[in-house]
Amino acid sequence: MNSDITESDVAALKREHSSLDDEIAEWREWWGQLRDLGDPHFGEMGDRLAQFREHLAAHFAHEESQGCLSLVMELPDNLVKRIAELRDEHPKLLGELDQLISQLQQCDPQLDCWGKAREEFEGFLDQLNTHEEAEDAFLDQLS
Ligand SMILES: [Fe+2]
Ligand SMILES: [Fe+2]
Repeated sequence: MNSDITESDVAALKREHSSLDDEIAEWREWWGQLRDLGDPHFGEMGDRLAQFREHLAAHFAHEESQGCLSLVMELPDNLVKRIAELRDEHPKLLGELDQLISQLQQCDPQLDCWGKAREEFEGFLDQLNTHEEAEDAFLDQLS
């Protein structure tokens, strides 16, 4: 265990990862139900995405403030570099999410905005998942 991070810090970050996973799973289920009903709720989707964005931003801020992702001066260079890369992904991921939210706000329900938005959001979730899995693997090495 690195002296700059406690076991409870690692556990807290892992809990945040699971809670984001749950939120994503609920969101996918909700969207699947709407699709089956053929009744897009753009307003509600925008609100949910905005809420998700808040949770994600808080999680990223927590990771950055914990020093978990920058503490690692005692680790080998390649890991330090990887951690820095992961940290640099935070603003990119949030920027993409902001763009998606703003696209949805301008969505014309008459056009195929719904399907396109879903496709793009799924792509975003895949990227986010890759990011979080890489962090989990890193946290596993610390605990
Ligand atoms: Fe992260
Ligand atoms: Fe994370």
